[in-house]
Amino acid sequence: MKIFLDTAIRADIHRLAAMGVVDGVTTNPSLLKIAKAPYREVIADICEMVAGPVSAEVVAEDWQGMVREGRELSSIAKNVVVKIPMGFEGIRAVAELKKERIATNVTLVFSSNQAILAAKAGARFVSPFIGRLDDVGHDGMEVVEEILAAYEAYGYETEVLVASIRHPQHVVRAALLGAHVVTLPTRVLEAMFQHPLTDIGIRKFLEAWKQVPKS
Ligand code: G3P
Repeated sequence: MKIFLDTAIRADIHRLAAMGVVDGVTTNPSLLKIAKAPYREVIADICEMVAGPVSAEVVAEDWQGMVREGRELSSIAKNVVVKIPMGFEGIRAVAELKKERIATNVTLVFSSNQAILAAKAGARFVSPFIGRLDDVGHDGMEVVEEILAAYEAYGYETEVLVASIRHPQHVVRAALLGAHVVTLPTRVLEAMFQHPLTDIGIRKFLEAWKQVPKS
């Protein structure tokens, strides 16, 4: 399973990419707002830090505008993936960008039906928002399970990119279902490194080492 970082904070991406566990990055307007720098500069920097896909989102509301913005975003670097919101206009834009071989990530997906349409239109990634579904009383991961089964049944090549992840258990469930990608806020990736028994174990080994004869 690929791990993407869901942030536009360049210092965090730089630090965590060095760990060898980051395969790509996803951004959105809310995340770019936090980065507090011109978006083109931020996306270009991120694309240099990670070799894998870097999603950058359009903000136009009509398909023609989305296509124009998609072309502009994809000109920033060859690993940019154009993030397009689900909907009539979005799917039309995905189909158009596909003709130009521009990779897309259909975002704000909350149902299997939406994911099926994204795959049929030729999206490279589909992003079901798990945490936001959980927030309103659904089990977001059930939607991921359905999408994976539907894609498997018809051989769709679109990768399921599990988004709106809130905690490490979401990551475990995504992995057990065979999701292609998870995109993680920095704090969730950092939490995956941690276990109190690891810390206790290290302290015990270091204490023991003090009593090991050194010569
Ligand atoms: O990748 C989508 C993500 O940024 C949305 O997360 O926590 O705002 O639902 P959240």
